[in-house]
Amino acid sequence: MTELPRRPLGATGLHVPPIGIGAAEIGDMTETFAYSVPEDRALETVRAALAGPITFLDTAASYGDGESERRIGLVLREQDGLPPNYVLSTKADRDLRTGDFSGEQFKRSVERSLKLLGLDRLQMVFVHDPEHTTFEAAMAPGGPVEVLQRFKADGVIEHIGVAGGPIDMLIRYVETGAFEAVITHNRYTLLNQSAEPLIELAYQRGLGVLNAAPYGSGLLAKGPAAYPRYAYTAAPEDLLNRAGAMERICADYNIPLAAPALQFSLRDQRIDSTIVGMSRPERLQQTLDMAAIAIPDEMWARLDEFVGPPADPEEVRWRGPATDA
Ligand SMILES: NC(=O)c1ccc[n+]([C@@H]2O[C@H](COP(=O)([O-])OP(=O)(O)OC[C@H]3O[C@@H](n4cnc5c(N)ncnc54)[C@H](OP(=O)(O)O)[C@@H]3O)[C@@H](O)[C@H]2O)c1
Repeated sequence: MTELPRRPLGATGLHVPPIGIGAAEIGDMTETFAYSVPEDRALETVRAALAGPITFLDTAASYGDGESERRIGLVLREQDGLPPNYVLSTKADRDLRTGDFSGEQFKRSVERSLKLLGLDRLQMVFVHDPEHTTFEAAMAPGGPVEVLQRFKADGVIEHIGVAGGPIDMLIRYVETGAFEAVITHNRYTLLNQSAEPLIELAYQRGLGVLNAAPYGSGLLAKGPAAYPRYAYTAAPEDLLNRAGAMERICADYNIPLAAPALQFSLRDQRIDSTIVGMSRPERLQQTLDMAAIAIPDEMWARLDEFVGPPADPEEVRWRGPATDA
């Protein structure tokens, strides 16, 4: 299969396609996504992902507490490592049982990622969800950021990024100049565009800009009736109503809601790659199909009316049990 064209990921020297594949789902995160993903289907999805044409896969140490990385590692071992030109990113995490977000924990997290993935170096590692610690603790000498920098100096990690939820928090990390790329999630979608100032800042500073969860964790792909969840928890009524209105507009044009949901992110030239989560091999072609559907200007204008206020979905998450992807 022909690879998608790739573009530079900020100044990292890595090149990524406009669409990346998210591997949270294959970590079998039942609480986060409200469904389970059996190992055989996860492995088929990873095999399809590594076969192309999308040459970027994103995972994290915390996805299924190592399960996503373990499953990816099984397929990498079958295939003798990553295909040429492929980018695999992962994220270093707190201890999910104790909440430990220390430098020592980040060292353990990176070492476990290397072991599970079966790799001796990692192209891109993000500090994952630092909303679970303070900015001061994360940036302190011997803290998690410095530990990743040491791995980088030793050649174990090639590039360091930051990934998380609250936009103000990510802006603060981007402003430190310590990160080469940033991942925002669920906050630059058809329904919520509160990441706008972060995307602009990261772009202006030349960071790699990655927009994850264009479907708001599934609702904008499966539809608000079939999957009434946004950002890993039950979606509030207002959001469901707006999504329903958007779905009806799409139906007028015989276009699935997933197409404008994905293309909203793809058409923003500041974004280097849009990370779409999936747990079925057929999703790869479906994603390419969603990217290729022509959307009339008039339809975009009608969808714009239902974007909603720039509220942070974190507020929604705080009302339910805290789960992450
Ligand atoms: N803090 C962070 O750094 C962070 C946070 C969130 C996400 N991420 C990354 O971004 C990735 C994407 O986010 P996400 O997975 O949470 O949300 P998402 O990409 O908005 O949505 C993924 C969901 O959409 C479904 N889906 C995808 N394509 C579909 C299609 N063509 N038809 C029907 N359903 C479709 C998937 O279903 P199936 O499982 O059935 O395929 C899955 O339930 C994650 O996997 C992760 O790698 C990072």
